[in-house]
Amino acid sequence: MKNLTVFYFSGTGNTRFIAEYLAQRLSAQFSAALFDICGMQNVAEKIAHADLILLAFPIYGSAPPIPMRDFVHKYGGLFSGKKFLIAETQYFYSGDGAASLGRTVTKYGGEIIGAEMFNMPNNLADCKMFPVKNGEEIAPILEKAKRRADKFAAQICRRGRAHKRGFSPLSHGVGYFTQRKFFRKGEKEKRRALKVDESRCVGCGLCAKNCPAENLLLQNKKVKPLGKCVLCYRCVNLCPRKAITLVGSAPPEKQYKGPNIENS
Ligand SMILES: Cc1cc2nc3c(=O)[nH]c(=O)nc-3n(C[C@H](O)[C@H](O)[C@H](O)COP(=O)(O)O)c2cc1C
Ligand code: SF4
Ligand code: SF4
Repeated sequence: MKNLTVFYFSGTGNTRFIAEYLAQRLSAQFSAALFDICGMQNVAEKIAHADLILLAFPIYGSAPPIPMRDFVHKYGGLFSGKKFLIAETQYFYSGDGAASLGRTVTKYGGEIIGAEMFNMPNNLADCKMFPVKNGEEIAPILEKAKRRADKFAAQICRRGRAHKRGFSPLSHGVGYFTQRKFFRKGEKEKRRALKVDESRCVGCGLCAKNCPAENLLLQNKKVKPLGKCVLCYRCVNLCPRKAITLVGSAPPEKQYKGPNIENS
């Protein structure tokens, strides 16, 4: 059996959900190993061992998240001759979200043999214009995403490759000119935009413990952001006091609890 190595980044669980589901749907032909790219060890070995690599990530402003971009640049030298799948999750649209990372992989000599984008629940909990849903409300979204994953996996099992969604010039225009150009320009400022409302914070440390970027320092029961935020929204959705705001202006009214409906 061939080896499928899944490298994923997931702020609030959507991408992990899709990565795990895809690995399971490919299990007739591939023995899968899944790795969260944050804090991972022995990466070169993991890449060498892979017959097929799946890169899975959420989209932020039609761009791949910083950790996934950094991962590709750091290990791109090992990509030559390797085959890749891309799975990108989004709330609504990203144009060429999957392709924007795919192009970098290709520059390093990797071959993209399939790419898919999955609409998933919103996690931007402090932006009033995007409603947050949980529990049974998100069941239809998850079912639709699973059906899309079924089709994608079936293509790979049947013909060894799948379609590459988001790779057309039209998708590129939509992704770049409606979002990525502006999002990437303001990305540095957004990384420093995280605010903790001290009147709400009780210093429990949950945010610091769970931040994948080690951006939150807990000192004397106070949280200090270090300017290394990767915009994943985990802490905004996790804080028991709803004390954290990032891109939006007011603390979230409702937090996203992730795709595990039983936990919602
Ligand atoms: C900073 C940020 C920017 C986002 N930008 C987009 C976007 O451009 N288009 C979109 O459809 N969804 C966007 N989303 C929604 C997420 O991509 C979506 O909820 C994703 O499935 C979250 O995956 P995760 O749970 O694995 O982190 C954004 C989310 C965040 C936190
Ligand atoms: S999770 Fe919330 S309450 Fe706990 S330390 Fe972080 S900001 Fe404060
Ligand atoms: S500070 Fe919050 S939003 Fe930023 S990377 Fe850490 S957990 Fe994610």
